[in-house]
Amino acid sequence: MSVIDDERVNLVAADGVGASTLADDVRRGLQAPLRELPPKHFYDARGSDLFDQICDLPEYYPTRTERSILERRAADIAALTQATELVELGAGTAAKTRLLLDALFQQGRPRRYIPFDIDGETLLRTGRSVAAEYPSLEAVDCVAGDFERHLHLIPAKRPGARRLFAFLGGTIGNFETRARRRLLRTVAAQLHAGDHLLLGVDLVKDPAVIEAAYNDAAGVTAQFNRNVLAVINRELQADFPLKAFAHVAFFDRANEWIEMRLRATRELTVTVREIDLVVEFAAGDEIRTEISAKFTPQRLARDLADSGLELVELMSDPAGLFAVALARPV
Ligand code: SAH
Ligand code: AVI
Repeated sequence: MSVIDDERVNLVAADGVGASTLADDVRRGLQAPLRELPPKHFYDARGSDLFDQICDLPEYYPTRTERSILERRAADIAALTQATELVELGAGTAAKTRLLLDALFQQGRPRRYIPFDIDGETLLRTGRSVAAEYPSLEAVDCVAGDFERHLHLIPAKRPGARRLFAFLGGTIGNFETRARRRLLRTVAAQLHAGDHLLLGVDLVKDPAVIEAAYNDAAGVTAQFNRNVLAVINRELQADFPLKAFAHVAFFDRANEWIEMRLRATRELTVTVREIDLVVEFAAGDEIRTEISAKFTPQRLARDLADSGLELVELMSDPAGLFAVALARPV
């Protein structure tokens, strides 16, 4: 671990975060019959900033709804978990996490915050500001990595500590069933008796409400979607013309998930120099860039059971838009 200015803030980084799989993901994903890129590549500094802007959009209900649930229930979560260490997967700017930290401080004495994110720049900024805002935290141990591959980099629990893993925002929905359950199983394997997982999930609802959240009038989600092409252009010396790709987002009712795609608006050829790849697009050809699964209580129960977790409490908002599940190892 390297030490940064504030001696309480540490960083451990997986080698070649993001870039290490970008080349493989692009090679595989753009040559597959159904072209696809994993959503983790949205999140360079600009992608994280665009996501933050999405969180404030009037159409994007998940963030404000999850915040309202945490505002009402953070004290209960703190009482139920008595956590002394908070680990946060996909922390981003940790905007809602302050609610948990405040509640934990009111109940007892949290000692350590461990944010984990693939975007190292945003992660460090978050770690530093949390350390500054909570002077009595003993350590903020930032882990820069891919939570599908690098959970082992999370530092060991201190003796006697009780951990709360927070995985907020509905990010778990950005994985298909098998990958989602695999990820939840590896997270569950990190939990010991007395530890908990707090999992934010977006709920199935009127498709029009969901589709509006991913097709905002200001076009921020479209910019976020196209940002993956900007990342590939920069990191792999590619020449995607961003303006030639239209943002597409629709609710797939059979799978109960949002699908985001980028659709070529004309015939074009893209060269990805770093990996010697040439990709031809006909007008209308699409790349799937994200799924965002929406949950029913049944989908959540199956995922938790499959991962060896049991539900302690399911907290939702009055309109049933979003839910925060508190779970523990069986
Ligand atoms: N938790 C925040 C941010 C959610 S956005 C909230 O609720 O608002 C999703 C976050 O997960 C981003 O910060 C992104 O960088 C991170 N992320 C996405 N894929 C990741 C991966 N595979 N490994 C680690 N972090 C990832
Ligand atoms: C991070 N994740 C939960 C967001 C979502 O809603 O699936 C990412 C996002 N994609 C488009 N808008 C927001």
